[in-house]
Amino acid sequence: MMAAMRPVIIAANWKMNTTPADAGELAATIAGRIREPAVVRVICPPFVCLAAVGAALADEEIGVGAQDVHHEVAGAYTGDTSAAMLQGLASWVIIGHSERRRDHGETDERISGKLRRAVEAGLRPILCVGEVLDDREAGRAVAVVDGQLHGALAGHLPADLQAAGLVIAYEPVWAIGTGRNASGADAAAMAEAVRSSIAAIGWGAAAADVPVLYGGSVTAANIGEFLAEPSIDGALVGGASLKPDEIAGIVARAGLTANARLVETAAT
Ligand code: 13P
Repeated sequence: MMAAMRPVIIAANWKMNTTPADAGELAATIAGRIREPAVVRVICPPFVCLAAVGAALADEEIGVGAQDVHHEVAGAYTGDTSAAMLQGLASWVIIGHSERRRDHGETDERISGKLRRAVEAGLRPILCVGEVLDDREAGRAVAVVDGQLHGALAGHLPADLQAAGLVIAYEPVWAIGTGRNASGADAAAMAEAVRSSIAAIGWGAAAADVPVLYGGSVTAANIGEFLAEPSIDGALVGGASLKPDEIAGIVARAGLTANARLVETAAT
């Protein structure tokens, strides 16, 4: 399938940064710098900043996303956030980020439950997968990511996840926050492997339509290396997404690819 059919997506993961007092101003500043309608743009602030960011982006075509959602509908889960609580605050949600797998013991089974809650609530999921350095050095990167995808997706009807607009973010753990990004070619090979795994999980040819983002030390300076790869559909950006100049450069570069894909699609 032609990459031209897939959207280009730049999602900002603000992680545990900003406060309700300053998040709206940062979102407004960034919004003014990323007006590139051909690119699907999403900002994922902390839960407590969702309302402020949503208000700041009310007149912008920029999605707002949460960074997690609980795997149960409701109940005695102190400190957690359900899909229902996100209604009106977020339309996207990051699920299975490696920092949550690491710090909150999130298993593939839990992550599968989170996906179910997101789908039920109409939240568009960005499912994160990626290997640690030992796995990459041992040649196990594809196997690890394949296992994560099976664990998260196999219990779901492909049609449900397709309707929800599932996005995969390939984020090698060793590249997150380290300044050591994967090469464009390695990330592209993993994006292809992701689609092969999803095809084998029961999606068949529909796997070719799944957007796959790269994440891990993405900057305005290196985004071009990833977007030069037809199998990569954008980026999930951490640290650089808090810096207006950086995210502006990233979205501007993504606009070139997004507009080229639109032209390609129109020509076919
Ligand atoms: P950095 O861009 O800071 O490496 O973070 C990547 C990430 O984890 C995005 O979800």
